[in-house]
Amino acid sequence: MDKHMARRGFQVLVGLLLVSMGLIACDGSSGNDSTSEPNPTNEGQALRELLKLPDHFEIPAIPDYNPLTQEKITLGHRLFYDQRLSGNQTQACASCHLQELAFSDGEITPTGSTGHVLVRNSQGLGNAVYHSTLTWSNNGFVDVEDQLKVPILSDNPIELGVIDSVQAEVLARFDSDALYQRLFQEAFPDSESGATINKIVFALASFMRTLVSGDSPYDRFLNGDSSALTEQQVRGLRLFNSEKMECFHCHSGINFSVSYRDSRTDAGSITFPFFNNGLYNVDGEGSYPAVDQGLYDLTLDPRDRGLFRPQSLRNVAVTAPYMHDGSLATLREVIRHYARGGTLTESGPNAGDGRLSPLKSGLIRGFAVTEQEIEDLIAFLEALTDETFINNPDFSNPFEE
Ligand code: HEC
Ligand code: HEC
Repeated sequence: MDKHMARRGFQVLVGLLLVSMGLIACDGSSGNDSTSEPNPTNEGQALRELLKLPDHFEIPAIPDYNPLTQEKITLGHRLFYDQRLSGNQTQACASCHLQELAFSDGEITPTGSTGHVLVRNSQGLGNAVYHSTLTWSNNGFVDVEDQLKVPILSDNPIELGVIDSVQAEVLARFDSDALYQRLFQEAFPDSESGATINKIVFALASFMRTLVSGDSPYDRFLNGDSSALTEQQVRGLRLFNSEKMECFHCHSGINFSVSYRDSRTDAGSITFPFFNNGLYNVDGEGSYPAVDQGLYDLTLDPRDRGLFRPQSLRNVAVTAPYMHDGSLATLREVIRHYARGGTLTESGPNAGDGRLSPLKSGLIRGFAVTEQEIEDLIAFLEALTDETFINNPDFSNPFEE
């Protein structure tokens, strides 16, 4: 897996590692890269206000071609909840991304608007834009703009199903609605052409950037409130950051993922970490189920079988079931998976022992764990649930107001 880390990735990893280890001291210092300063410019301040960013979060990467404005955020927020954005008007983005579940959906894998069952679990969207790449495993989706065309336009599998033959009809729905005419005009004042797929993507991407989750008990603890975590949660945090469990090597930093970037990360130094964490070993040679072999399906390099992005663990207690295919039902099962050093699938077409996978990351070695330690670690992961985020009216369904 390490070949996917650019050389600077190593330095970043070490930096994050030190930061993580610093947390063991429980001194309440920030989980950010300690050398960073908040963007001091006025423009930076304006962006922070627009995003309502907590002080300990950096400004997410925003591509020059899609400057952030309140008007785009407002349009994107409405579109996110609007079923008219699916070919047959039965689904919206919010059908698979529910706010009360931190924008995941509680399903193993969701079903698209025309009945296609997808092969991947719906991701929570809190802080998703801070990952260096989007989705469970794709090294080409660097900006959220790159990725958003998939749920809207894809015909295999169909999600929202705005396929070529219905595109004009879908756009006409927005062009014939007086409110949307105004929202599109305000969001894209230099264009007279009404709704377009690009404008929809740009507005949704702008809304995605506002989905920042930074007010969990863990954040309050980071910011100096030592009573924000229970003693049990502090024990869990120590376990998480221990060499025994190794979690922090892949789930580190402010977003609990080494797949991280923000507006300060220059394009040349973005790292693209993907790991095989031993979830499957179908053929004894490290293969994953043929429906989804992760990065391999894009690169066709056999060593890339089972490579997935280390998912952010923010709000993880409300985003069950877990992993790219939703195959682990609970956090307890996840911890058992790591403690065992890989998952054993006893029977069926995907039978095999992930622990013995030759492609598994060297960091997934397995460890002895007591019932008490499992409880402690779960308690810590629950401290990443941000009630402010999952109840924030800025993100809720505007059609129910
Ligand atoms: C049918 C269910 C479904 C619909 C509808 C849907 N999504 Fe998703 N979404 C998913 C799944 C499944 C994934 C994981 C995809 C993957 O890894 O390939 C995902 C991933 C994402 C991601 C990447 C998150 C990350 O952490 O990398 C974003 C952003 C996203 N969706 C936003 C949207 C938006 C905006 C819409 C509406 C235009 C939308 N989704 C519609 C199911 C859905
Ligand atoms: C070698 C890197 C690595 C290490 C070490 C690691 N993880 Fe992971 N983690 C991953 C990857 C990669 C995924 C996604 C795998 C997939 O979907 O197939 C993941 C997924 C998860 C998920 C599922 C998230 C979701 O939303 O579905 C949880 C929870 C998790 N890890 C917790 C932990 C804990 C707790 C530890 C320590 C005991 C740990 N991880 C150690 C790389 C790692």
